[in-house]
Amino acid sequence: MTAYAYRSGLDLLRRRSNARTETARAVAGEWRISMTRAQGVHVVDFGTGDGDLLAAVLTKAGTPREAVIEIVERDRQLAEAARSVLMSAGYTTALANDSRDEPDGFLRESSYGTVTHLLAANVVHYLPDRLAWVASLRPLLTPNAVLTVVMRSAMCETRLLADIVRKTEGRSRAPSDQAISEILTAQRFTISRRTVPSLFTIPVEGDWSFSAAMTDPEDELAMFVRWMLSVPAGSPVPAAALTHIEDFLAARIVDGRLTLCMESIVLTARMGD
Ligand SMILES: C[S@@+](CC[C@H](N)C(=O)[O-])C[C@H]1O[C@@H](n2cnc3c(N)ncnc32)[C@H](O)[C@@H]1O
Repeated sequence: MTAYAYRSGLDLLRRRSNARTETARAVAGEWRISMTRAQGVHVVDFGTGDGDLLAAVLTKAGTPREAVIEIVERDRQLAEAARSVLMSAGYTTALANDSRDEPDGFLRESSYGTVTHLLAANVVHYLPDRLAWVASLRPLLTPNAVLTVVMRSAMCETRLLADIVRKTEGRSRAPSDQAISEILTAQRFTISRRTVPSLFTIPVEGDWSFSAAMTDPEDELAMFVRWMLSVPAGSPVPAAALTHIEDFLAARIVDGRLTLCMESIVLTARMGD
C-alpha cells in the first residue's frame, strides 16, 4: 500500500473515530508514572507510521521535552512525516539506526543507550517472527522499562472485515493478543491487558452499497473500506469475499450512518528477572 493510500485511510479513520485519542489515553495512562526518571527517558516507537499516535501518547503522558525519542519506520516518507508531527508537538526525534533497512526490521542497538519506553502500535501483524522480535528487544530495555504493544482485538469490526478477505484468500488471520501475551510471558515479561473500545461512524447515502461504489476513486467510504481490507485501489476485491463484505456493512448501516465498533488491546509488559 502506498504512503498516500495509507495516509488517506488513516486520515478518514481519525476524522470519523475516537480510536486514536482513546488508545493514546490508555497508553499514556500506563506510561505517565514512569516519566520522571533520574537517568532520563528514552522512548522508541517501532512502526511509527505518520507519528500522530506517538505525538499524542508523549503529550498525554507528560513526556519531558528533553527525552530521547527514536522512531523505527521503514517507509521513509512516513518517517519524515512523523518527524515533523513530533517536532510540532515539541519533540526532537532521531530515526533509529538502520533498522529500517534490515529485512526483519529489528532494532538491534541504539546509539542512545538503553530504552525506558517502547511502543509497538498496530505493527506486530507485519512481523513474520514475533518471538525473535520480542527476544531482540530484551537487551535494549532498562530493567524497569515499559514495553507497550497495541493491536486490534479479535472482536474489532474493522479487523473482522479484513479477516473476511484473508480467509477467502487462504491467508492466516492476524495474531491474537493471546498469542502475543504468550510470547511476552515466555520471554519473562509480566503483562497487564486493557481493552480500549471506540467507534467509527460516517453518514452514508441512502442506497450506498460497497459493490456499486468499490471502484469509484471519488467515493471516500469505498476507498476507506478497501484500505481496511488491504486491497489497494486498482486491485480486485476477491469475488468470494464480496457478498460477505456487503452483508457485513449493510447490517451496520442504520438511520443513514455506517457505524463499526472498534476495539484495541493495550498490552503493557514489564521485565521480570
Ligand atoms: C498500521 S501502521 C501503525 C502506525 C502507528 N504505530 C499507529 O498505530 O498509528 C504500521 C507501520 O509500521 C511500519 N512497519 C511495518 N513493519 C515494519 C518494520 N519491520 N520496521 C519498521 N517499520 C515497520 C509500516 O511502514 C507502517 O507505517
